[in-house]
Amino acid sequence: MTLPEPKIDGSMSVEKAIKQRRTVRSFRKSALTMEELSQLLYSAQGITEDGGFKRSAPSGGALYPLDVYAVVGDRGVEGLAPGVYHYEPSGHRVDLISHGDKRRELARASLHQMWMASAPLNLVITSEYARITSKYGERGIRYALIEVGHVGQNIFLQAEAMGLKAGIVGAFHDSEVIRVMGIPLRHEPLLIMPVGYGT
Ligand SMILES: Cc1cc2nc3c(=O)[nH]c(=O)nc-3n(C[C@H](O)[C@H](O)[C@H](O)COP(=O)(O)O)c2cc1C
Repeated sequence: MTLPEPKIDGSMSVEKAIKQRRTVRSFRKSALTMEELSQLLYSAQGITEDGGFKRSAPSGGALYPLDVYAVVGDRGVEGLAPGVYHYEPSGHRVDLISHGDKRRELARASLHQMWMASAPLNLVITSEYARITSKYGERGIRYALIEVGHVGQNIFLQAEAMGLKAGIVGAFHDSEVIRVMGIPLRHEPLLIMPVGYGT
């Protein structure tokens, strides 16, 4: 499904978004709009180079080892069935990977951090290390880990700028997260970011 065109302007300064950003762990039930989902994914890994392939976050050698998945809850995003979606930067689209509301299972896989399931949307960032170690060897792993930090902060600041809040989770069982989401084994989860309206 092609996402709405992302905006390249907004009403909150980056200074204010940086000042306000906090890890938030409780969310209202309110659904996000497709526009909000589109904007969050664009901030994470959207193609920002006109006619090119370069993305919102920097990447060692522009090799882009990361993928972003959206775990959408029941009535989590208006007009989108609950499920796990893969973000495809070229074409700015999401493709359904698995059906159903996986939020509680995802929270259980994250050491029972059940607050995660209160967020209408969880963004999961994974790394396929081979895409970058093929050029940089072991050091490519470091580069992918640095890159995911950039993506996480982009999501935090974009959420803030839209009046949303985000959390960040690194405590989870990798293999359980992969199983729950139904994603390829080579996509190793690095970060999970619950997003929604704060309480
Ligand atoms: C790599 C990483 C992993 C984290 N994992 C978790 C987590 O599993 N659960 C959680 O509640 N917070 C987690 N946090 C959030 C930190 O607790 C939080 O960033 C820290 O307390 C500073 O607060 P702030 O983000 O509101 O400034 C994580 C943060 C980072 C950067």
